[in-house]
Amino acid sequence: MEINSLSTGNRNFGATVTGFDIADASENDIQAIESAIDRCAVLIFPDQQIDDAQQYIFSSKFGSMEKATGDIAQNHERRLALDINDISNLDRNGSVLARDDRARLFGLGNMLWHSDSSFKPIPAKYSLLSARVVPATGGNTEFADMRAAWDALNTEQQNECKDLVCEHSQLYSRGALGFEDFTAEERIKWAPVNQPLVRQHPKTKAHSLYLSSHIGTILDWPVPEARLLIRDLTEHATRLEFVFAHQWKRWDLVMWDNRVTMHRARRYDHTQPRDLHRTTVSSAVFT
Ligand SMILES: [Fe+2]
Repeated sequence: MEINSLSTGNRNFGATVTGFDIADASENDIQAIESAIDRCAVLIFPDQQIDDAQQYIFSSKFGSMEKATGDIAQNHERRLALDINDISNLDRNGSVLARDDRARLFGLGNMLWHSDSSFKPIPAKYSLLSARVVPATGGNTEFADMRAAWDALNTEQQNECKDLVCEHSQLYSRGALGFEDFTAEERIKWAPVNQPLVRQHPKTKAHSLYLSSHIGTILDWPVPEARLLIRDLTEHATRLEFVFAHQWKRWDLVMWDNRVTMHRARRYDHTQPRDLHRTTVSSAVFT
């Protein structure tokens, strides 16, 4: 196994992992990957031709697994098993969704900067995203380093943030795009949850901003003032020096640590199929 950092400046942010087949991962391999992701936050494994079962088995070596309860498709509507988040523009028959399809419009929320499952009481630790079909152009995923964003705040700004608690919900992130068409059941299922604005990595002890488009307010703050601070911090945290773009190739597997990063998908031709399968490891211990 060879791990090479991306050249994105002085920080350790992003690495490629080659010479390794995830279907044959040993305990030593898993430890090396954990150590690399603690350092680099995003790992790119090119050319991993896998199915959902192989992806799930590999992912589960890193901790307890999430179910895809954040997807809008209910059980009978789902294209994929509930162990797999469906990051695609396809319906259950594999056809490209119509432009005004509700599931497609909901999915556009993935194009806002976010941390996966920050809207769940126990949010995501790692996400693993496997590219099965990619469009000819567009559809990159961009990643932003929330450790570097924290480090670049001055002491006064850090002190203002460090004890704040935010409310996260998919109702907020979709609402930011004007998608308000939620059922009563969805409003209950995705009721806001509280998350700290600043996290500390349990192993590296690095602090990071825990930002996400799912944030709707800060506890005990007036909503407009809260949203302004979150908007300011998000602008700061997604400056070019903290960001890199991943241009997908078929069979790339990309794994990232949601505790210390944000990401967003970029636009692409909505008539072209784009099919990525995500498995998600939860944060067993929230820190
Ligand atoms: Fe995501």
